[in-house]
Amino acid sequence: MFNPYKVREDFPILKRKIDGNQIIYFDNAATSQKPRQVIEAMKKFYEEQNANVHRAVHTLSLEATELYEEAHEEVAEFIGAKSMEEIIFVRGTTEAINLVAYSWGLHNLKRGDEVLVTLMEHHSNIVPWEILSEIKGFKVKYLDVNLDGTLNYELLKEMLTPRVRLVCVTHVSNVTGVINDVETVAKLAHENDALVLVDGAQSVPHIPVNVQKLDCDFLAFSGHKMLGPTGIGVLYGKREILEKMKPFHGGGGMINEVSFNLEMHRCKISWNELPWRFEAGTPDIGGAVGLTAAIKYLRTLGMENVKTHEYKLTEYTMKHLKECPKVTVYGPKDAALKCGIIPFNVERLDSHDVALLLNSYGIMIRSGFHCAQPLHEKLKIPSSARVSFYVYNTQEEVDRFIEALKEIEGVL
Ligand code: ALA
Repeated sequence: MFNPYKVREDFPILKRKIDGNQIIYFDNAATSQKPRQVIEAMKKFYEEQNANVHRAVHTLSLEATELYEEAHEEVAEFIGAKSMEEIIFVRGTTEAINLVAYSWGLHNLKRGDEVLVTLMEHHSNIVPWEILSEIKGFKVKYLDVNLDGTLNYELLKEMLTPRVRLVCVTHVSNVTGVINDVETVAKLAHENDALVLVDGAQSVPHIPVNVQKLDCDFLAFSGHKMLGPTGIGVLYGKREILEKMKPFHGGGGMINEVSFNLEMHRCKISWNELPWRFEAGTPDIGGAVGLTAAIKYLRTLGMENVKTHEYKLTEYTMKHLKECPKVTVYGPKDAALKCGIIPFNVERLDSHDVALLLNSYGIMIRSGFHCAQPLHEKLKIPSSARVSFYVYNTQEEVDRFIEALKEIEGVL
């Protein structure tokens, strides 16, 4: 049985009090807290096994290499990839998307082509395409969303012309929590010979994700939003596509051979095999160890249980937010369409003021436009306050949050 109170015992930070208030952490879409299993795995690595990987024959290096490769295997299994060759470690979702832009987009997109991006994307799935379009001359086209923040699938069908080479879609909106039907998007895109890049930053930590079922070509996500450390993230790519892509960063570890002809001033370089071809330089080995521990922890909880827990919390919160007359909630009214994220505003208050007032109760939320300004413009709001849940949040915490909001409303 999934028990958030039992889960909480694994998270040392949740015991912290600030100004006498037991903290309530509702900013999980920005980053998650870390269980002691992750903290201890990383501590053990640095205290007992630290060495560089793939570079030496001594015992510490062999142990570190084994742990680093195991991390790729663990991720592959977690998201249902065919093999660890399809798993590239990067710094986070942003770097994963930039990798696709510069290793695939730079060499495959040209004037006349289109990249279709939904209006609910995080800036990290907008800005790299805008930058690249200036270099390559292709067009970035934006797929509008409905007023409740859901994707407009009919419009998608219309906009999917033969010019579209890539569709960029988030699996779960970091603003509204809307879960997109990525399987349908991929099916439609593939019928049109376009590839699909999925931003999984807000889905992989919260719901079961299987890349083969989704049939996406790329999936990007971050370790730090799924109980792991900051500084490590993942790009999944279908092997046959990765095989044809050019490297991203050049440097050590990503090559097979660099042989030099001094007289000719020529260098002959051949690339390493997947996934190392895309992992130049010393990687975040400690981060990979932490990510393995985070995934093992999530697997023990069970991703279906994680999804159900967050669904129940979301439904409960949305129901009780109706008791706050000065609060406006954005996104779909049906919690089943969402995943643990609720954006809202309080009448006459700026979202940062709402966040500051809640902070005085020990309740931590995010405010602003959450790196998704186009969606806020579509919703015609300058910013929003946002609560986002995870495995250690409880109904009792939601009750305290609703009480605090009612008090805030009371003094307005
Ligand atoms: N993308 C993260 C968020 O939505 C930082 O807060």
